[in-house]
Amino acid sequence: MCGIVAYVGDRTAYPILIKGLQRLEYRGYDSAGVALINDGLHVYKCKGKVKDLEEHAKGKSITGNIGMGHTRWATHGIPSDTNSHPHISMNGKFVVVHNGIIENYAHLKKGLISRGYTFQSETDTEVLANLIESIYVEQKVSAEIAVRSALTKVIGAYGLVISCSDEKDKLIAARKGSPLVIGVGENEYFLASDATPIVEYTDKVVYMDDEEVAVITKDSFTLTNIQNDTKEANIQNVTLSIDEIDKGHYEHFMLKEIYEQPLSIEDTFRGRVTMDHSKIFLGGLTEALPQLLSTKRIIIIACGTSWHAGMVGEYLFEEYARIPVEVEYASEFRYRNPVIQEGDVIIAISQSGETADTLAAIKMAKERGATIVGICNVAGSSIPRETHAGVYTHAGPEIGVASTKAFTSQVTVLSMMAFLLGKMKGSLAPDNYIHLIKELGKIPDKIKKVLESDEYIKKIAETYKDASNALYLGRGNLFPVALEGALKLKEISYIHAEGYPAAEMKHGPIALIDENMPVFVIATKDKSYDKIVSNIQEVKARNGKVIAIVTEGDQTIKKMADHVIEVPDCHEAVAPLLTVIPLQFISYHIAVMRGCNVDQPRNLAKSVTVE
Ligand code: F6R
Repeated sequence: MCGIVAYVGDRTAYPILIKGLQRLEYRGYDSAGVALINDGLHVYKCKGKVKDLEEHAKGKSITGNIGMGHTRWATHGIPSDTNSHPHISMNGKFVVVHNGIIENYAHLKKGLISRGYTFQSETDTEVLANLIESIYVEQKVSAEIAVRSALTKVIGAYGLVISCSDEKDKLIAARKGSPLVIGVGENEYFLASDATPIVEYTDKVVYMDDEEVAVITKDSFTLTNIQNDTKEANIQNVTLSIDEIDKGHYEHFMLKEIYEQPLSIEDTFRGRVTMDHSKIFLGGLTEALPQLLSTKRIIIIACGTSWHAGMVGEYLFEEYARIPVEVEYASEFRYRNPVIQEGDVIIAISQSGETADTLAAIKMAKERGATIVGICNVAGSSIPRETHAGVYTHAGPEIGVASTKAFTSQVTVLSMMAFLLGKMKGSLAPDNYIHLIKELGKIPDKIKKVLESDEYIKKIAETYKDASNALYLGRGNLFPVALEGALKLKEISYIHAEGYPAAEMKHGPIALIDENMPVFVIATKDKSYDKIVSNIQEVKARNGKVIAIVTEGDQTIKKMADHVIEVPDCHEAVAPLLTVIPLQFISYHIAVMRGCNVDQPRNLAKSVTVE
């Protein structure tokens, strides 16, 4: 969950590290630190954000052409100056930044204490720093051998950058379970948890694999596995541009990402739908198409917002491809003993491609013989590398912790998959297939229209900004949108909210409704329309406040609801893509009005690489 950046070359490392940490802050932001290696070693670290670190380092020596930085999301030990990374080993021989968890740290720590080691922090990382140092000193081996040897004793996950005070020209990096990318420049190298801190300097990257160790100086790097067998470095071109990772004129990344959705959906279509919108082609699925066409069941696994997209997928696959679908929280699936039958297809959905539970669930299902299809946003991340086939969402980097454009891109991919499979299986008539592709193709322009309601929605947000609770209701494929709306409100404005299938309200939640309860109802014109109108009446009969998302021109609901937000008319299959936008705006504006940190909500991090 933490962010790592490191540099070795001719430039001054400090500004590169600071900028890199700012780009990685979405991965964790409870403390930050840098280690600068010049004649000596300077470590500056503190609780708080990267800007607090800059303040802390002001006026101090920030020279040096080698260094490493870290932004933390606490696992072992509260956020504090002492628990911040980098961590220095007891005798100052090694400095380490770490993303991940050393599961057997207590056992290792006990052994080190018995050999006279003392500890400053409560972290598992300091244990690793001391373990490496103890091997280095006691066995009189090189820093690289000491690192390899320590890693064979470690159980857990790590992305690591390490430097030894006796070998100052070198950085040692290792990865298992937590991502690490090497940026390859001219006489300079970069290391980072993802490519965003690197693209400003070079477009050549190597995505490290699990159990790989890299030894990097300014002129060269070697890649080996933990046993020291040479590995071939696969240098790839990364296509991320700086504009994509800057806020531009927007106040927050989340707002920018809400506004980017017409484009991110277009990008998700690009090259996959013919110009005349008559055919879908998903090249990444080729390997898994026979299984997808013959499977008796699809299991979708994901977490959080991606799980909500998966629930929309369930509706789409069942309705159009007539394939039974189960949608599972990855964290539940992996710890049960799930029945995986021959021919089962697992679709794993993840924006980051690094979510630990989703990754572990994939590995387990793969071992049991399932075909794994990934839907991911971050190219080169861990999940796509574990799958048999997959489709990238192409939404571009999502920096705001609250997921917005990733959700709509995931739903776009799931829609394309369901329509294509339906057509190939014969459950979707050719005319309907073309009609649905065209409906999907109209979504970016229709979203542009919804975006024009931003100011109007902001006024509605003003009315409800002080609510303590909120309910979100939807039916069919709009029930997952209700769940997503509630999650957005909870995570960025800290208002308690729940999403329900509208008809379930009568089985309990209706007791909560009074004049203080805002109820967001997704009520566009579809086959459940009359039913949802009745649900709105039930809320109004109990003095609840109804904010309804309706189809343009709807007069019926206008008469009964307190507020309506109109979206353009669309086919019900694609309605989740339109109706989620007003809910994203509502949460965004309420959070801003409540003075919350929209892009970095408390206790959260963008990619959850711990269980
Ligand atoms: C909510 C949010 C999270 C993620 C979840 C899964 O706004 O962003 O709920 O959706 O942590 O993350 P990925 O999709 O990266 O696997």
